[in-house]
Amino acid sequence: MRLVIFGRQGAGKGTQAVELAKHYSIPHISTGDMLRAAVRDGTEFGLKAKEIMDRGELVSDDVMLGMVAERLSLPDAANGWILDGFPRTTQQAEDLRSLLGDAGIDLAIDLNVPEDVVVKRIASRRVCEKCGTNYAAPDINIPTVPCTVEGCGGQAVQRADDTEEAVRKRLALYESQTAPLLDWYHGQGLLVIVDGVGAPTEVQAELVGVIDAAV
Ligand code: AP5
Repeated sequence: MRLVIFGRQGAGKGTQAVELAKHYSIPHISTGDMLRAAVRDGTEFGLKAKEIMDRGELVSDDVMLGMVAERLSLPDAANGWILDGFPRTTQQAEDLRSLLGDAGIDLAIDLNVPEDVVVKRIASRRVCEKCGTNYAAPDINIPTVPCTVEGCGGQAVQRADDTEEAVRKRLALYESQTAPLLDWYHGQGLLVIVDGVGAPTEVQAELVGVIDAAV
């Protein structure tokens, strides 16, 4: 099963993709998580990527393609995956099509959440510094949330690219660079739209129903 999940920043792509990966026993491949791991590792590439991400801009298409191609070639991706955060530009969509050849993808999902809702979600998002797990702080003024993953012991804090200025830029880039891909996949008969507003478990059930019906 080869799935791609789209949606505005804060729509819940990461939250839902983690659960879908467990449900279908496929890896969750998040380009944002891969870049953040490189930042945590302090590599030269990670430091460069951090500057771009913190400004709310996009890492170059060729770098992203190299990263995704390498990840998809690993053995755990042989029987499918859920891609989160890639493709994000027309060039990346074309690169992915060339990379996959005839196999292509099975389904593109648009997790649809209005802009005013995602802005509120992002304001309360806290991400564990150690393991990357996402939490929603009960109040936007609460700066840290203890991570509840067994054995982690980390603290969840605001993401460096969740500042108001970077979020505005990321949402604008989504509309100009990524949203056109929805039409592109719709034209190929591969797009389904799922309402991402509601409790995460309700959204999850809706996603599973739609995927099972389509794939
Ligand atoms: P990336 O990590 O992909 O971030 P994003 O697209 O901005 O998406 P988000 O992580 O902000 O949102 P999400 O939809 O995953 O929401 P989440 O589940 O966290 O990319 C980061 C950066 O990396 C980019 O800006 C770019 O610089 C670079 N990059 C990555 N890929 C790239 C590429 N292909 N090309 C170039 N550059 C690239 O949920 C949000 C919050 O809401 C959480 O707190 C969560 O707990 C809460 N929540 C989730 N679901 C619900 C619900 N149903 N109800 C209430 N709250 C909910």
